[in-house]
Amino acid sequence: MTDFHRIRRLPPYVFEQVNRVKAAARNNGVDIIDLGMGNPDLDAPAHVIEKLKETIGKPRTDRYSASKGIPGLRRAQAAYYERRFGVKLNPDTQVVATLGSKEGFANMAQAITAPGDVILTPNPSYPIHAFGFLMAGGVIRSVPVEPDAQFFHAMERAVQHSIPKPIAVVVCYPSNPTATVASLDFYKDVVAFAKKNDLIVLSDLAYAELYFDDNEPPPSVLQVPGAMDVTVEFTSMSKTFSMAGWRMGFAVGNERLIAALSRVKSYLDYGAYTPIQVAAAAALNGPQECIAEMRETYKRRRDAMVDSFGRAGWDIPVPKASMFAWAPIPEPFRAMGSVEFSKLLIEKAEVAVAPGVGFGEHGDDYVRIAVVENEQRIRQAARNIRRFFEQAGTLHNVVPLSAAR
Ligand SMILES: Cc1ncc(COP(=O)(O)O)c(C=O)c1O
Repeated sequence: MTDFHRIRRLPPYVFEQVNRVKAAARNNGVDIIDLGMGNPDLDAPAHVIEKLKETIGKPRTDRYSASKGIPGLRRAQAAYYERRFGVKLNPDTQVVATLGSKEGFANMAQAITAPGDVILTPNPSYPIHAFGFLMAGGVIRSVPVEPDAQFFHAMERAVQHSIPKPIAVVVCYPSNPTATVASLDFYKDVVAFAKKNDLIVLSDLAYAELYFDDNEPPPSVLQVPGAMDVTVEFTSMSKTFSMAGWRMGFAVGNERLIAALSRVKSYLDYGAYTPIQVAAAAALNGPQECIAEMRETYKRRRDAMVDSFGRAGWDIPVPKASMFAWAPIPEPFRAMGSVEFSKLLIEKAEVAVAPGVGFGEHGDDYVRIAVVENEQRIRQAARNIRRFFEQAGTLHNVVPLSAAR
């Protein structure tokens, strides 16, 4: 059998290499402190779980549900946008529920991409931002993550030099993996640029509620007047309500784009299990203290991580948002690259992180640290790392175990 065209465009997840080393260590009984995957360890809010239990078994809940989401759920998402961003949405035409935001993003890429279409995506970035389009036959041109003049310079060059011209740009702030945040002024410039150059703006706002400065909640691109003409934005219940396994997210924005996504989805799925949708609506409509508590938990962990890793000799830029820190690989180890360094951390410090190159070639001098273990375990990770750095410092040459084998 020859190689499948689409599969050739999907290299094995880089993270798998590190996962294998992690699994081997665990098989040997090692207690790995796992700061790798952004998989929330917190519980979903109790009242949301109650709602789910209450709804299971009710009449008609076992049937196929609605592919674009039940009306009450779409209304709840519209109410969230109005409350949080002052953005009015028509729940019938400008909101669609998705099976997690990742599914929504990937199927939006399917909906709008013709083979050879050029899409501008940040590098490094959450993998589906590029691979959603690659799977759809598109071509990726990278732009920087930092929302500054360089970003617009790269966009200008892309518009001038890409053949054919790009059709869309992806923005993701707070960023996974870099935790970079963006201002509404930046979004104003993005929307103006997009309108001038006939680009669609796809905004991934999965970390909308995971921020640490109460005065600076991440804005939505849709707050920019006129953004609705060109924008779709994705949000997720995964991090906001620690409901990652429930697979519930949303796309909202431009009617034509939402209709295109809904059409593709109508061929593929029947929507999430109705009780999950009912409980998700209860989460959006219900008390919001659980979100503030989640934020506080991650903030304490972030502080513990920056403090303890700093004392271990690893200075980590303080993330303002998201559940991640984007940590430069300490100088003595940088040349080995992020995959080998990540393997070494597992083998020598019993700590797992995500290699930066898994998010794109421009990430290879970094690893991503997710604060998905409690403070005590984060501090333990720092102690392990300090011990490893001290031991490595006594060696003339640090040779990664995995490379030496
Ligand atoms: C930026 C970003 N977008 C989307 C997702 C996927 O979220 P969901 O669980 O809603 O599919 C993640 C998950 O880590 C993410 O970091």
